[in-house]
Amino acid sequence: MTYRAYLSDLFALDDRTALVTGGSSGIGRAIAGALARAGARVVVAARGKDQLIDTVDELRSAGARAAWVAGDVATRAGVRAVAEEAAEVFGEPDILVNSAGINLRPPMDELGEDVWDTTMAVNLEAPFLLGQRFGPGMAERGFGRIVHVTSQQAHRAFVQSGAYGVSKGGLESLARSQAEAWSPYGVTVNTLVPGFVMTPLNERIAADPEKSAALAARTMIGRNGLAEDFEGAAVFLASRASAYVTGQSLFVDGGLSVH
Ligand SMILES: NC(=O)c1ccc[n+]([C@@H]2O[C@H](COP(=O)([O-])OP(=O)(O)OC[C@H]3O[C@@H](n4cnc5c(N)ncnc54)[C@H](OP(=O)(O)O)[C@@H]3O)[C@@H](O)[C@H]2O)c1
Repeated sequence: MTYRAYLSDLFALDDRTALVTGGSSGIGRAIAGALARAGARVVVAARGKDQLIDTVDELRSAGARAAWVAGDVATRAGVRAVAEEAAEVFGEPDILVNSAGINLRPPMDELGEDVWDTTMAVNLEAPFLLGQRFGPGMAERGFGRIVHVTSQQAHRAFVQSGAYGVSKGGLESLARSQAEAWSPYGVTVNTLVPGFVMTPLNERIAADPEKSAALAARTMIGRNGLAEDFEGAAVFLASRASAYVTGQSLFVDGGLSVH
């Protein structure tokens, strides 16, 4: 076996279908691109059409099979519509990546029920509902990969964790529950835990050189994260190579969490 064949056997995603929520921006977009370039057919889902079209154009021009679904995962009906539309494009997904997320940061004293509800709906309930929709089918077919994108704030409080940290902590627990349920049937469920990543979600902090530098200094590598830092970890967690890795949190954070 050549080394290329060996690597391909471990990591190639041909004949796999992936759904990436939040696949039109930041970390989700980088993950969608990585899965597509590794051979998967990829559907990206988000609300904004322009960015979805731009993402899919980019993927297709790189030779990938890709499509988009516009929808809002802040409501149960919205999640269901996204799931059904996505499954119609290339069939039921073998890989589900939940990267759609919001971080509204009111101080705890001012945290109202509306922010709480929206945060839970997008960050926690949508991944739960998508898991309920696709997990059992993956188990029945004997292969599945579910990857949630969580946060440092799932593990510790900082910079107004508020409802966001709670939703991401719940998502870590959801991953373990899903792993317990479906791992015996070939479905692994893991989380990717970013540090501070320069994406539109963090535009405000990224635009402040002092704050950015202070956050970079907290890592071991000495810089803040980039969306492309997630490519390798995502392909690993989506591939055959990670068959015995389940219920785990993979910190892609330049060492921030252990510094
Ligand atoms: N950047 C960081 O430092 C960092 C750190 C820790 C964790 N994370 C997590 O990483 C994930 C990705 O974040 P990012 O930094 O890549 O953010 P981003 O660039 O803002 O991307 C977020 C994506 O989610 C989509 N989205 C948001 N609300 C949605 C909704 N209601 N329905 C459907 N799609 C929705 C957005 O598209 P539309 O707005 O068009 O819908 C976009 O595609 C999030 O879960 C975030 O919590 C990020």
